[in-house]
Amino acid sequence: MVSMRAIQIPRLDGPGAAELVEIDEPSPGQDVLIDVYAAGVAFPDALQTRGLYQHRPELPYVPGAEVAGVVRSAPADAHVSAGDRVAALTMFTGAMAEVVAVPADRVFALPDAVSFTAGAGLLFNDLTVHCALRTRGRLAPGETVLVHGAAGGIGTSTLRLAKAWGAARTIAVTSTPEKGDVARAAGATDVVLADGFKDAVKELTDGRGVDVVVDPVGGDRFTDSLRSLAAGGRLLVIGFTGGDIPTVKVNRLLLNNVDAVGVGWGAWAATHPGYLAEQWRELEPLLASGVVAAPEPVVHPLERAGEAIASLEDRSATGKVVVAVR
Ligand SMILES: NC(=O)c1ccc[n+]([C@@H]2O[C@H](COP(=O)([O-])OP(=O)(O)OC[C@H]3O[C@@H](n4cnc5c(N)ncnc54)[C@H](OP(=O)(O)O)[C@@H]3O)[C@@H](O)[C@H]2O)c1
Repeated sequence: MVSMRAIQIPRLDGPGAAELVEIDEPSPGQDVLIDVYAAGVAFPDALQTRGLYQHRPELPYVPGAEVAGVVRSAPADAHVSAGDRVAALTMFTGAMAEVVAVPADRVFALPDAVSFTAGAGLLFNDLTVHCALRTRGRLAPGETVLVHGAAGGIGTSTLRLAKAWGAARTIAVTSTPEKGDVARAAGATDVVLADGFKDAVKELTDGRGVDVVVDPVGGDRFTDSLRSLAAGGRLLVIGFTGGDIPTVKVNRLLLNNVDAVGVGWGAWAATHPGYLAEQWRELEPLLASGVVAAPEPVVHPLERAGEAIASLEDRSATGKVVVAVR
């Protein structure tokens, strides 16, 4: 067996447990074998290091859900072949290693315009946001989208993509003015602080409210998010970085004719064959043409993967975070 460098999580006491190790390279079997150049870091990576995510891998495990790199080998019937630049979903572990083996339906040809570091940070958030806005949220042309955690991975992805899919206006909610600058750079039309966002949104929309709320934060903002919706509006439940899982008094849905909509992208993809390819067909031309930019993320070296994961947990991260593997 040939060995490779990888990050491993040997125990569930947080990102600080991450260590650089030598382990055996995977064997391809029926999968596509990829030489990894960079691996993405997402909030579930932080949750998993404490055993707090719904997917609980056996210890020790290699963290990371997505990579970008070059195909080393592929089955004859795959849509990619040796030498192709690709991005791929390892879902939800295995990415922070020099070599990964991934089923072909989770491998996507990377447009030339997208670097490996940018490519490693695209799929997880952009495909979740596609699922949220297009599939579950029914975003219509001319609508207004509000996004919480707007300087984060899901947040900046929403700000990059919402206008390409018809939104006329995007309102970013961030905890600090500095994060507001990050959201503005990602394309936000307006930026408001999390503290008191409901009144700020009311003023910005002349009392009407917004059509769609993208909510990766949850917690105590939830009720004010429902109150910020216009009639017919949808609150898209993406995640709970705020910690608490909110509860809904359903009379609020009835009184204002609004929907609270669950968005579980991984579960949707698992139950809808061909969905990932369909999503990529809508996303890839936007990236290849530059209509939607694939911004350069914050890059940490592989040996600092623990710090990279910790930056999401301690809320210091902005935009997307990746680790450079080669
Ligand atoms: N449903 C799905 O299919 C799906 C798919 C992918 C990810 N997710 C979920 O989406 C959420 C966001 O992921 P992400 O990768 O975008 O994370 P991220 O880059 O870390 O961004 C999350 C944002 O949440 C805000 N936040 C509020 N309270 C926080 C706290 N106590 N700790 C940390 N952040 C806090 C922060 O913005 P402010 O400081 O500005 O408030 C931060 O920028 C996660 O819960 C993840 O599990 C869901």
